[in-house]
Amino acid sequence: MIRRSVVRGTGHYLPERIVENAFFEQQLETSDEWIRARTGIERRHFAAEGQTTSDLGIEAAKAALANAGLSADDIDAIVVATSTPDLTFPSVATMIQGGLGMSRGFAFDVQAVCAGFVFALSTADAMIRAGQADRILVIGAEAFSRILDFTDRSTCVLFGDGAGAVILEVQEGEGTNQDRGILALDLNSDGRYRDLLYVDGGVATTGTAGHLRMQGNLVFRHAVEKLAATAHRALDKAGIPAESVDWLVPHQANIRIIEATAKRMELPIEKVVLTVANHGNTSAASIPLAMSVANSEGRFKTGDVLVAEAIGGGLAWGSVVLRW
Ligand code: ACO
Repeated sequence: MIRRSVVRGTGHYLPERIVENAFFEQQLETSDEWIRARTGIERRHFAAEGQTTSDLGIEAAKAALANAGLSADDIDAIVVATSTPDLTFPSVATMIQGGLGMSRGFAFDVQAVCAGFVFALSTADAMIRAGQADRILVIGAEAFSRILDFTDRSTCVLFGDGAGAVILEVQEGEGTNQDRGILALDLNSDGRYRDLLYVDGGVATTGTAGHLRMQGNLVFRHAVEKLAATAHRALDKAGIPAESVDWLVPHQANIRIIEATAKRMELPIEKVVLTVANHGNTSAASIPLAMSVANSEGRFKTGDVLVAEAIGGGLAWGSVVLRW
C-alpha cells in the first residue's frame, strides 16, 4: 500500500466586480469582437479597492472546507501559488492561515506564475507521500489587475482576479493507476525564455511592483507546443492512454491555446473544462477555479481521470494526472 493524495474538496471565490470587454473599448483601441475572437474572453472579475490576494484566498479556502465538510483545525498545511502577494512578505499562505483562525501546521507560498498551481500540487503531493502532512489546502490566488498596464491593449484585456482551492487528503492506494488521487506529474522550466513574459518591477530592482509585459505571440507558440507535450509525458508516467482521459482542466489563458492542446491530445472539446470566457486568465488561480466550478456542477465522477496543465512566466510549465 502507498500514500496517495486524493482530492477531498474544492472551493473558489471571484470578486464581485465583473468587467466586460466593453470596459476596454472605452479607453483603448480595441473591441469586444477582437478580444473574443483572439482569446475567447468575454469578461473577468477585478478585486475591489483594498481587497487583496489573501482576502480572495481565504474565501476560496472557506468554500473548500465547507465542500469537504472539514474545519481549519483538520488542515495540516497550506500551500499557496501566487505571483501577486499582498506584501513582499509574509507569505499569502500565512495570511490565509491567520484568516482561517488556524494556529497549527505550516503555510508557505510557491511561485511559478501561471503554472504555479501545478507546482503547488506537486509540492503538496510530495509532502503527503513523504508523511509530512495528511491534509493540505492547496490554493491558487491572484490579483493580476494590480500589475496590469491599462494603457497596453495587448496584455490588460487578458487577465482577471480570483482564487481557487483544493484540499488534498492522504488515502491508501495499491500503487497502481487505478488508485484515486495524484498519479503522475511533469514539471518543467526554461529560464532562457524569461523575457517573453515578466513583470518590469520588483523588490531588488525598481522597488516597485511593476507591470506585466508579454510577447504574446511567442508565448502562444510555446504554449501550443509545450502543453500537449507535458500532458502526454505525465500520462505516459501514469501509464494512462490519452483516450482514457475524462477531463482536461487546462490553464485558462486563451481559448485558441486550449483548443489546440485538446486537438493535439485528440480530446473532444466536450471533455475540456472551460471558464476562460467568464474569468479571463487568473494565472495560478485558473486551474483550481475551473476545477471547483466544474465540481460544483457535479461534472466529475469518482474514478474519472483528470489532466490539468499550465504554462506561464519563466517559462515554467507542467501537468498533473489525477483520478477523481
Ligand atoms: N485589441 C485590438 N488589437 C490588438 C489587441 C487588442 N486588445 N492586442 C493586440 N492587438 C493587435 C496587435 O497590436 C497586433 O497589431 P499589428 O499587427 O498592427 O502589430 C495584432 O493585434 C496582432 O497581435 P498578435 O500579438 O500577433 O496577436 P495574437 O493573435 O498573437 O493574439 C494574444 C495576442 C491574445 C496575446 C495571444 O498571443 C496570446 O494569447 N498569447 C498567449 C498568452 C498566454 O497564454 N499567456 C499565458 C501565460 S500568462 C502568465 O504566465 C502570466
